[in-house]
Amino acid sequence: MKHKILVTGGLGYIGSHTVVELQSAGYEVIIVDDLSNTRMEVLGKIAQITGTKPHFENFDLVDSELTQKFFDLHPDLSGIIHFAAFKAVGESVENPLKYYRNNIQSLINILENMERLKLSNLVFSSSCTVYGQPDELPVTEQAPRKAALSPYGNTKQISEDIIRDTVVASTIRSISLRYFNPVGAHPSALIGELPLGVPNNLLPFITQTACGIRPQLRVFGSDYNTPDGTAVRDYIHVVDLAQAHLVAVNRLVNNLGKAPYEIFNLGTGNGNSVLEVIQSFEKVSGVKLNYTITDRRPGDVEQVWANTQFANDELGWKAQLSLDEMTLSAWKFQLELNKNNQ
Ligand code: WQD
Repeated sequence: MKHKILVTGGLGYIGSHTVVELQSAGYEVIIVDDLSNTRMEVLGKIAQITGTKPHFENFDLVDSELTQKFFDLHPDLSGIIHFAAFKAVGESVENPLKYYRNNIQSLINILENMERLKLSNLVFSSSCTVYGQPDELPVTEQAPRKAALSPYGNTKQISEDIIRDTVVASTIRSISLRYFNPVGAHPSALIGELPLGVPNNLLPFITQTACGIRPQLRVFGSDYNTPDGTAVRDYIHVVDLAQAHLVAVNRLVNNLGKAPYEIFNLGTGNGNSVLEVIQSFEKVSGVKLNYTITDRRPGDVEQVWANTQFANDELGWKAQLSLDEMTLSAWKFQLELNKNNQ
């Protein structure tokens, strides 16, 4: 009897890579996605990679009635991974209510149905953005959360608190995974980061500039207190990240957790600057990137990278893939997209 896992936002960037890992490990996967930030074709690409097309339902988890109807049809879920959320930092500043409503209400709907049906295992997609600019680096899970720099980041902090308090008052057990900077694409180049519209994030902007979709990359600031003046992040390959979600699901499904609610940093433990990412990309792609240095982007932190000891020790998981493998896989995915004129 296969364990059935609900993956909300499972047609999205990290969600789709995680569905591939879950299916490859023998889990049955159900995806719920409202298609607001992805394309339907991703479902077929997942099937091409794993040979199994996940069950897919297209509806908005903010809709309490539709969500309840869904859960009533699936009272036997062994676990839930909740990715579905809006995630553009800048957009959240312009339209905070859209972010609070979508990111918080969808989580509440899921938790209420878990309580109602006595479902237990929730993996939550959180973010290093909850730390703001940490006082100490590398940053551990015990670091104090700072006031969020954006409504998006605040929805992640509020969501973690909602889960923490619900776990205390119910039989729900949960793991929150705080991602650092997910980048790269599946080695098949069939799935990857699919920015609809102008990319916010660095690597899709690099690959779109390199293939001529964008005229030039702007490097946001070179006057930071870092070795080369550009901001430093802990970039982690999306496949490493997806595999950590499989480990988290296994931990919950097999009741291996040391506490009802656990939080893990998912990074490599290394920091790289924007210029180092550009240099890596130019090396692996053979493409000279057209970029210019501009002012800092408001809300950016100067430097952040993870202390990954807890995840390494407790989950027995450690990121394996290098920055060059991240940038090369992103480039290969971009070339595949261009072939299909996506
Ligand atoms: C990385 C670095 C930019 C674009 C955010 C969220 C985080 C997660 C990932 C959702 C920064 C610089 C970027 C560009 C640039 N979001 N940059 N030119 O801001 O670290 O993290 O996205 O899960 O929660 O906070 O990622 O890729 O936008 O930026 O110079 O055109 O690249 O200034 O230093 P960020 P990013």
